[in-house]
Amino acid sequence: MSTLSKQVKAVSAADFDVERIREDFPVLKQNIHGKPLVYLDSAATAQKPFAVIDAIRRFHEVDCANIHRGVHELSQRSTAAYEETRAKAKRFLNARSKDQLIFVRGTTEGINLVSNSWGRPNVKAGDEIIISAMEHHSNIVPWQLLCAEKDARLRVIPMNERGELLMEEYEKLLNPRTRMVAVTHVSNALGTINPVKQIVDMAHAAGAVTLIDGAQAAPHITVDLQELDADFYTFSGHKVVGPTGIGILYGRKSLLNAMPPYQGGGDMIKVVTFEKTTYADLPYKFEAGTPNIAGGIGLGAALDYIGRLGIEAIAAYEHALLEYGTEALSRIPGLRLIGTAREKASVLSFVMEGIHPHDIGTLLDRQGIAVRTGHHCAQPVMDFFNVPATTRASLAFYNTFGEIDALVAGLHKVKEVFA
Ligand SMILES: Cc1ncc(COP(=O)(O)O)c(C=O)c1O
Repeated sequence: MSTLSKQVKAVSAADFDVERIREDFPVLKQNIHGKPLVYLDSAATAQKPFAVIDAIRRFHEVDCANIHRGVHELSQRSTAAYEETRAKAKRFLNARSKDQLIFVRGTTEGINLVSNSWGRPNVKAGDEIIISAMEHHSNIVPWQLLCAEKDARLRVIPMNERGELLMEEYEKLLNPRTRMVAVTHVSNALGTINPVKQIVDMAHAAGAVTLIDGAQAAPHITVDLQELDADFYTFSGHKVVGPTGIGILYGRKSLLNAMPPYQGGGDMIKVVTFEKTTYADLPYKFEAGTPNIAGGIGLGAALDYIGRLGIEAIAAYEHALLEYGTEALSRIPGLRLIGTAREKASVLSFVMEGIHPHDIGTLLDRQGIAVRTGHHCAQPVMDFFNVPATTRASLAFYNTFGEIDALVAGLHKVKEVFA
């Protein structure tokens, strides 16, 4: 370990009481194949603290009722708890108003809602939609479906070998036919933090609408929607230590008001007759049917939990972990990091000479170390780097420097097996 990383480690460990934080995460206290679990797959889903587990349990034990339409006490309580999450999400994202925050199943549904409800009325033949070379499939396929339906064209901002977007190429792609620029804030496969403010400003100057996929940003870095000024922003609850099946889509009010509903059903209407239906005001116009009430309440507890730790403190600690991990992995002979952008968050993706990522993942699992192997739902990224798959260790604030040491030791063992 270099003197610098020793200092980084010492300062961060002193500032951030990770051992105490780990006490909040019951799942971390177990052995896998006889070894302490080292969970390095938080980009896929984050583990849940007692605060979230207890909030969901309490809802089912004490408050369980459907929301919005009930006058009875339980319904009032569950409605209040569910709606309180919207207020918490407003603070978390620094959104202007909670009416702009729509509960969705997750990032995937957030993007599909926009590609359908905004895309169908606004995109026509010959229009263009810009995404980037490092998108998750959930920010590629919905736009491809829209382009196929409308005879529109999908354009892609290229990246360099470090995994950074080529902004001068982006500038060239923008033109009067550009209707939408949809880009990830942080890449799940590479860890790159994209210059989203600049991307949004350039798109707006060209008259295009913007969507930012915040799935990998919300858990790790500050998101300030008033500053960013994106038209749409979406993230998944399960990656911010909340439950699965719940997420948030933020939208600009004027756009949301002009968009037709995504789905029809209960709760999204004002008046229904067989001749004509009028729709509820925002955000309910986009929330048909009984939602994931428990999930919404769990997400509120997750945002409270993150808020207590402080997203800046989380970002600083994870950055120190990432730097330590980058340096440690770089010293392993035959290991190549995939994604070496200057601005990165929480992802260590790599390949090892002569060893398939699935074998690495399986052998690490035998040592209690959970990493993800495969294309990470970003096949074009794998194609760009000319690899079939990578091994991805992804970090969260409950990981320790010791766990990175365990990963390094585990990888040396993998190498021995294949020597
Ligand atoms: C960058 C990015 N976008 C979108 C998604 C999709 O999120 P979800 O599956 O929660 O809808 C993910 C999930 O891994 C992601 O990492």
